Amino acid sequence: MADGEINLVTGGAGFIGSHLVDHLLDAGGRVTVVDDLSTGSLANLEAAMAFAPDRVEFLEGRVSDVLPELDHSKIARTFHLAAAVGVRLVVDEPIRTIETNVHETSAVLEFARRAKVPTLIASTSEVYGKGTRTPFAEEDDVVYGPTTTTRWSYACSKAIDEYLALAHDREGLAPTVVVRFFNTVGPRQSGEYGMVLPRFVEAALEGRPIEVHGDGRQSRCFCDVRDAVPALPRLLSDAENHGRVFNLGRADLVEIGDLAQIVKARLSSESEVRFIPYAEAFEEGFEDLRVRQPDLDRIRNAIDFEPKITLAMTIDDLASSLQAGKVDR
Ligand SMILES: NC(=O)c1ccc[n+]([C@@H]2O[C@H](COP(=O)([O-])OP(=O)(O)OC[C@H]3O[C@@H](n4cnc5c(N)ncnc54)[C@H](O)[C@@H]3O)[C@@H](O)[C@H]2O)c1
Repeated sequence: MADGEINLVTGGAGFIGSHLVDHLLDAGGRVTVVDDLSTGSLANLEAAMAFAPDRVEFLEGRVSDVLPELDHSKIARTFHLAAAVGVRLVVDEPIRTIETNVHETSAVLEFARRAKVPTLIASTSEVYGKGTRTPFAEEDDVVYGPTTTTRWSYACSKAIDEYLALAHDREGLAPTVVVRFFNTVGPRQSGEYGMVLPRFVEAALEGRPIEVHGDGRQSRCFCDVRDAVPALPRLLSDAENHGRVFNLGRADLVEIGDLAQIVKARLSSESEVRFIPYAEAFEEGFEDLRVRQPDLDRIRNAIDFEPKITLAMTIDDLASSLQAGKVDR
């Protein structure tokens, strides 16, 4: 990137977005953040603002309101992380989730067309739906349940984002990269929107029951956000990766019931581990996947991606950040 050129980060006051902002600033870059603070918080950007106040700009508002007014001449690349995130939110507020994910991504891609800059679109492992192959590889079929099951609308809204992004690249309107995040965890993540690890850590710290949904035998892979974010500019900066989809995560599987025990032991907590049926935690007929694991061959080949931060380190740092109410750089 030339001097004075700017990284645009939508959702930069959120969990993953704020770590990306830190990473881009650490690398000497300039950043403009657009965030409506619906689930994000300015506290997530405090460290960035203190570290490089002259290289970071914060614009509060919805992506679709701010971007049409934004001067695109200095923007070098865009990272679109703003979204209505998580299965809990989609079950509680399906219209907001679907509209935000589709409408705001369309606004980002319209901006990308105007600015003609490489644009990364954050997607999710949810896009695979209830596909049964393990691990999930980028070219695998996606399998959804019926439209009467609200849960799949999150996956479908993100799949539409992917189609739109890939079509922009294919039609030569703007180079795009799609990244499917698997469970991403670490400091600044809040349990408020149903994310499993911060929910468990918060409960363990407060001595409340750690609530495991289902029988706890479902397994997931957890990647620390500080391992994940450096991959984003690396993927976007190489034209070989444009027009492609990448899984981003870690391949080690952990059963959710075991995760509850690991958190409890790590934090020396007295909390009871309690099992809650899906129908009670979410809605009647809620369907969950037994295993969700990324195939990482593609991203390893593209950028030598190898996560290093252990789950124990993540739990410790997440617990410290939740206790401090905010986290240090
Ligand atoms: N955290 C994970 O494990 C995970 C897994 C899969 C996918 N993702 C994807 O990664 C991205 C970031 O997720 P996160 O975990 O950091 O969530 P987050 O909720 O912390 O971040 C989203 C940010 O976007 C902002 N936002 C939402 N709607 C907006 C709008 N219309 N205009 C402007 N700002 C808006 C929110 O205020 C928030 O700061 C999302 O696209 C999400 O789908 C995350």
